[in-house]
Amino acid sequence: MYYKRRVKKGPIIVLVLIILVVILAICGINLYKYYTSDEYKLGEAGYSEAEIKEILKFDRKYITYAIEHKYEDDFISLVKQKYFIWDNLEEYIKYIDDVYEDRKVDYSKVISLVNVGANFEPYTHTKKADMDKGYAILVNKYTSLPEKYAPDDVVEMSNWYSYPGNSIRKEVYDAFKTMFNAAKEEGLTLIVNSSYRTYEVQKEIYDDYEDSRGLEYADKYAARPDFSEHQTGLSVDIFSLGSNMSTFESTEEFKWLSENCYKYGFILRYPKGKEDITGYSYEAWHYRYVGKDLAKKVYDSGLTYDEYYAYYLDN
Ligand code: DAL
Ligand code: ZN
Repeated sequence: MYYKRRVKKGPIIVLVLIILVVILAICGINLYKYYTSDEYKLGEAGYSEAEIKEILKFDRKYITYAIEHKYEDDFISLVKQKYFIWDNLEEYIKYIDDVYEDRKVDYSKVISLVNVGANFEPYTHTKKADMDKGYAILVNKYTSLPEKYAPDDVVEMSNWYSYPGNSIRKEVYDAFKTMFNAAKEEGLTLIVNSSYRTYEVQKEIYDDYEDSRGLEYADKYAARPDFSEHQTGLSVDIFSLGSNMSTFESTEEFKWLSENCYKYGFILRYPKGKEDITGYSYEAWHYRYVGKDLAKKVYDSGLTYDEYYAYYLDN
């Protein structure tokens, strides 16, 4: 006798329902993932597919910034710059908006200027120098010494090393002597023309420039009192015998200093082509003592001390 086998429909329906629920759940999860993804949010913020790819390579905080701010076309170019400082982002963007209008933006220049504070007019936004930095102290048109600051370890220089009337901090003097002797061995003579200047002397120099040539000229060549590295007792103006501000750059002594001064702890403080960053005309003769280790790092970086300090010592 043949019995027709009856298929029970109940379990099949349950199974189909389970499969449907699972499929729906997977779709739901995927949709949720999509709408909460960085890619989607960046797209919503207005970034293109290519830009999103770039942004996703950045650190988390940059991705979050891009999502939280509407499309900002300078953002990606700024973040990619080597010396980008997160806290300066708003200033970079403001500076670009104020200065560049429709011109092509030089992002590296924007970063340099804003990092050192040169997006502002000199002497309009100033702060006090961090004296705890010791020989690494930064003094420029945006960073002043304490009022009428005077170091307490200044010593007189012998006329073997300098023109009469020069004095300098002890450690700088020792470093200069070592450098002087090394240059001597190569048949070169380095002579200090100007060194530590008191507040009063710096004021006299600055006022003389201003009285004779006007404010713009004075600010290009001399620091205002309390804003000069000479007042720190860490800077020396070096010439070769008989040379002066116009001729020193073409001497063998200058060439030697350019290649060797960092080995003795000194850096060229106001280099050629960086006038908009340092705020001063090129000074082939002005050397600043920062100590051997730091001098090598600054030399290797190719940055001005203002830029180096902003990124590596104050950031
Ligand atoms: N000539 C340099 C800038 C000074 O006066 O300190
Ligand atoms: Zn000088």
